Amino acid sequence: MKTVVYPGSFDPVTKGHLDIIERTAQLFDKLIVVVLINPAKKAIFSVEERVEYIRRITGDFVNVSVDCYDGLLVDYVKSKGASAVVKGLRAMSDFENEFQMALTNKHLYPDMETLFLNTSSEYMFLSSSMVRQLASFGGDISPFIPEEIAEDVATRLAKAT
Ligand code: PNS
Repeated sequence: MKTVVYPGSFDPVTKGHLDIIERTAQLFDKLIVVVLINPAKKAIFSVEERVEYIRRITGDFVNVSVDCYDGLLVDYVKSKGASAVVKGLRAMSDFENEFQMALTNKHLYPDMETLFLNTSSEYMFLSSSMVRQLASFGGDISPFIPEEIAEDVATRLAKAT
């Protein structure tokens, strides 16, 4: 059974993330989406909220589960018996940071592979930070957030600003 882990901060989860989840779930027996702490970013949504949103949009996927972890990605992956993580790559601007993380993780856990999936072209520009910024100026975020959670995310972001 091949298990892959999709880690991220998902603050909040976007249609771009969902695209990666859908495509990865078709390639592996089991996919675990895990909300991790990114020390470089201050999150707006609590970990529990982020997990709940991802659970709501992945409820129909039989081989996808959602989790959270406060620690190193490699330790989480080891604890789940997985051998690979998947990351979405939008543009060259993502590459340097992702490459650095992949090499660090390889150093920490040589048996783990980092796989990069290119984001579908319609989501190339999309990021959680863009969604947060748009909401902070009263913009409509619904085109960028999965339908099931778009209203709740918009209401929550309106309260945060
Ligand atoms: O969605 P993001 O913010 O790009 O995800 C980054 C994330 C959360 C996957 C990354 O910060 C991470 O792996 N955090 C856990 C701590 C860790 O393992 N750091 C070492 C990697 S260099």
